[in-house]
Amino acid sequence: MQINNYTDIHAHLLYGVDDGPQTLEDSMRMLELSKAEGIRTIIATPHYGIENGHAPDAEIIRSRFKEVQTKAAVAYPEMRLFLGSELYCAPDKVLQRLDEGKALPMAGTRYILLEFLEWGDRQETAEHITSTMLDIATTDWLPILAHAQRYKDFKGKQGLYRTLVAGGVYLQINAYDLADRADDWTRQNTRWLVQHKLVHFIGTDSHRPDHRPPAMRSGVAYLYDHCEESYVDALVHGNVEKLLAGERV
Ligand SMILES: [Fe+2]
Repeated sequence: MQINNYTDIHAHLLYGVDDGPQTLEDSMRMLELSKAEGIRTIIATPHYGIENGHAPDAEIIRSRFKEVQTKAAVAYPEMRLFLGSELYCAPDKVLQRLDEGKALPMAGTRYILLEFLEWGDRQETAEHITSTMLDIATTDWLPILAHAQRYKDFKGKQGLYRTLVAGGVYLQINAYDLADRADDWTRQNTRWLVQHKLVHFIGTDSHRPDHRPPAMRSGVAYLYDHCEESYVDALVHGNVEKLLAGERV
């Protein structure tokens, strides 16, 4: 059983690059809150996607990361930080952006964290998400679907999650939605995904100290209460070690 050794592969930690923290102080506060949640490894994942209003310059992201990492090495030496991004999955553009170095993969590996539009009229269908992700899984890239539990069009189509996983796509869920969230379809769906062992990675998708702060403990407690211990160990820690080593989970 992992205790206070959790990994967070989805965190808006870097200030002033997206809708995450806006000051260095708030980035450091996010680290303090993450540590209190038992998190010891974080992949910082700022949004990147011209279509959803975020196109921070890769050089600015790298310099912000260095700045936060340097301060963290003193204030939180037990914390390991890596750089990645949460990429909007524009089917015809996302791989080109990676090849051009505008968009960043996860910790310099072939893993990429991809998100789709999920609100209102611009919501993308489960079928579109599935076919786009499966196409990417046939390339050299290793696609991870960000907050897989949240796409409401999968309602009544949960079989497509199995199709995704069978096709080599990895799923990430937000820990918050397992236990902290009030009972609704998203919470039920998150629990269904872990019950069927379809999830590979867990994250907080934390944004700011006062808006979606890092939340990990309640989700991990739920997992150890309801799922096989070895599966939870992999989900909260082991799979990310494989990712960081560039190995396939
Ligand atoms: Fe996110």
